[in-house]
Amino acid sequence: MQKMKTQNRKFQILPSILSADFGKFIEEAQSVDIPEIEFLHVDVMDGHFVPNLTFGPSLVESLRKHTRFKLDVHLMIEDVPQYLPRFVDAGADILTFHQEAERHSQRYIQKIKEYGIRAGISINPATPLESIQWILADVDLVLIMSVNPGFGGQKYIPGSTEKIAELNRLKISRGLDFVIEVDGGIHPATAAEAYRAGAEYLVAGNAVFGEPDRPKAIRKIIQSVEREKIESSSRLV
Ligand code: DX5
Ligand code: ZN
Repeated sequence: MQKMKTQNRKFQILPSILSADFGKFIEEAQSVDIPEIEFLHVDVMDGHFVPNLTFGPSLVESLRKHTRFKLDVHLMIEDVPQYLPRFVDAGADILTFHQEAERHSQRYIQKIKEYGIRAGISINPATPLESIQWILADVDLVLIMSVNPGFGGQKYIPGSTEKIAELNRLKISRGLDFVIEVDGGIHPATAAEAYRAGAEYLVAGNAVFGEPDRPKAIRKIIQSVEREKIESSSRLV
């Protein structure tokens, strides 16, 4: 019974604006404006936590102002507490930071929730699930990095699938309802694999913005996951 429910899980694709052409930012964001897309994934990098620099709160604010999307803001930064209010004011709907960046992560998960938005925690490929297991009841979302953060267009690390599956088992056994998100190297095949393991929010950068026809690229990923859903339910019969 439980298994059946698991196979019918919802999912959605979150285009990652990191792979867009920054010279025409808003136009690029609008190129994924199809009914299937609810969120844009926005990668904030500070040049310390990861070896790259990207956007600050003002860009989040522009996306909020000029598009209809909800904003899934992924903070790859070190000084988490200092920047939380800035991104809340800028219009983030989900704020996710890294466990590796903040030893008092539970405190800041609570803080984000007090602001009235959803709070996520993320872990890098080398970080064990155990590091967050005692805050799972507090979070709205867990973001499993399936590449080492910092750059778009990298290859999905195969071990991520087992990590997602293990997290999903923990979630079901404890009756929790946080969303499992996966980020890095997601394309039609890896999206289906991550979904099968338990992921519901599938972030895709290069597989969307690297293609000339963005709606077509998104629908290719969706179809691959839909096919996986059908195949896995027939495996259950
Ligand atoms: C990587 C970022 C990802 C990135 C994913 O550090 O967190 O969100 O945009 O890009 P792809 O899908 O190209 O791996
Ligand atoms: Zn990201």
